[in-house]
Amino acid sequence: MLNEKISDVTPMADILKHLYSEYPKESVELYRIANQMMKDFAAIENNYVAAIREVNTRLEILSDEFQSLHQRNPIHTIKSRVKSSKSIVEKLWRRGYEINKELAIEKIEDIAGIRVICPYIEDIYTIQTLLLNQDDIELLCTKDYIKKPKDNGYRSLHLIISVPVFFSDHKEMVKVEVQIRTIAMDFWASLEHEIRYKTIEEFNIPSNVSDELKECAEIIAEVDLRMQNIHNFVIE
Ligand code: GTP
Ligand code: MG
Repeated sequence: MLNEKISDVTPMADILKHLYSEYPKESVELYRIANQMMKDFAAIENNYVAAIREVNTRLEILSDEFQSLHQRNPIHTIKSRVKSSKSIVEKLWRRGYEINKELAIEKIEDIAGIRVICPYIEDIYTIQTLLLNQDDIELLCTKDYIKKPKDNGYRSLHLIISVPVFFSDHKEMVKVEVQIRTIAMDFWASLEHEIRYKTIEEFNIPSNVSDELKECAEIIAEVDLRMQNIHNFVIE
């Protein structure tokens, strides 16, 4: 995931025109609204960039400490991104909301997204515990798709947390979606995502393909368990 910059006004005007019947089709007025909307979203983007920095730093500190105690790193990679204003608008539309920054802040939980990729399954829960032990981080929601994988085979631990960000004159709690998964789970999820987006009707993958993908997810889960067992055997 890369930091996506707020795109220019034209895609925003196009998206408003296509998704929402109540927006004017006439371009001057449409562009004025789209421009205002871009400014509104740009104004909140800083909060999410700051929240990502905050969580990244905490993860790096935890990882360094773990490294010095255990001579290995429980984090393989960290990726992060701020959702583009275009994707925020699409998501609000999909969920039937009006578009404004207040509803974006309230309803969209993954404007700031961090993905933590770990070597072993147990590292996932170690990172979860270490992060949530921090007394100023608030846990808003946990979805454990490892204990209970999605029907398509998707596995990951998802946390929605809220972290304090300090500005010159106030403190703000900002929501961040943290996805924690193994290298193997990430391998599957990345390829599955690519395959799904390549199919014309995203939610209509032929059933032989989805069966095959699910079987691959199960093989990968089995390999993750075996690697964990090897690791536990070797370090004892
Ligand atoms: P959105 O999918 O973001 O609308 O939110 P949700 O409330 O359905 O949350 P969920 O926890 O299901 O998914 C959030 C994120 O997890 C997605 O944006 C993806 O990054 C990832 N994810 C969820 N399901 C899948 C999946 O089946 N395949 C892949 N590759 N990624 C998934
Ligand atoms: Mg989803």
